[in-house]
Amino acid sequence: MNLGLSGKSVFIAASSKGLGRAAALEFAKEGALVTIASRSLGQLEEARDEIRAATGQEATMVRMDVLSPDDIKNAIRHAVDSAGGLDILVTNAGGPPSGFFSDMGDEDWTGGFELNLLSAIRMIREALPHLKSAGGGRIVNLASTSVKQPIDGLILSNVFRAGVQALTKSLSSELANDGILINTIAPGRIATDRITELDSKRAEDQGSSLEQFQTAAVKAIPLGRMGTPRNSRVLSSFTVRSPTRT
Ligand SMILES: NC(=O)c1ccc[n+]([C@@H]2O[C@H](COP(=O)([O-])OP(=O)(O)OC[C@H]3O[C@@H](n4cnc5c(N)ncnc54)[C@H](OP(=O)(O)O)[C@@H]3O)[C@@H](O)[C@H]2O)c1
Repeated sequence: MNLGLSGKSVFIAASSKGLGRAAALEFAKEGALVTIASRSLGQLEEARDEIRAATGQEATMVRMDVLSPDDIKNAIRHAVDSAGGLDILVTNAGGPPSGFFSDMGDEDWTGGFELNLLSAIRMIREALPHLKSAGGGRIVNLASTSVKQPIDGLILSNVFRAGVQALTKSLSSELANDGILINTIAPGRIATDRITELDSKRAEDQGSSLEQFQTAAVKAIPLGRMGTPRNSRVLSSFTVRSPTRT
């Protein structure tokens, strides 16, 4: 299936590992011009090598901490300069610390806001002029199923993902006239380092092993298994109809 992504310039945040990296790989397989960004240059190099080995394409990589407005500005500029513009922005970041309301003080709330909501706001603000000058584009905000049903013990994620969804819905009207479509992706349990980290802590809290915890958790999933990050079908929501870059 041709998703119309060939030659599109795509910036994917937090893409050295996990969901962001898998999305970057799938975009590259479709012939998109991919820019990957996160804090660790070493991990980004691994992601870039994987993309090269799988597709023969050279992804652009740039160091970016989503907590830094300057890093965000620099990273988006890097993507625009290397691909000659920007068509698609994927906002993403690491997950916030787990915990309940009683565990969280002002610093935790501020940290969660900056990591998972303000970062998306800043990336979108930086990307918008470029999407507009391309004649339209796509924004995909990576959030969580918690936008529909909060997850116990993930209060920071629950609150700020809901904010991301509110941002998406608000901007969908504001940006429609510019030909910019915006959506939230709300993944369930996808087997990445984030899930291992969260499950290890939950297992420890319950006095069980990681394996015991995950066996029980998977029983609640109708398919009977966790998702895997690699699934090209997710890309159908990224299809863009603006002109192809040359
Ligand atoms: N996996 C799931 O089942 C699932 C479900 C729902 C929601 N989510 C959410 O989806 C997002 C991605 O999760 P994942 O499973 O892909 O996690 P992951 O495998 O742990 O990867 C996290 C990525 O985020 C980057 N990152 C972390 N903090 C960053 C920062 N301050 N600035 C820039 N990049 C940063 C990491 O790279 P560096 O360390 O190089 O910066 C890494 O590339 C998280 O917010 C997670 O909570 C995941």
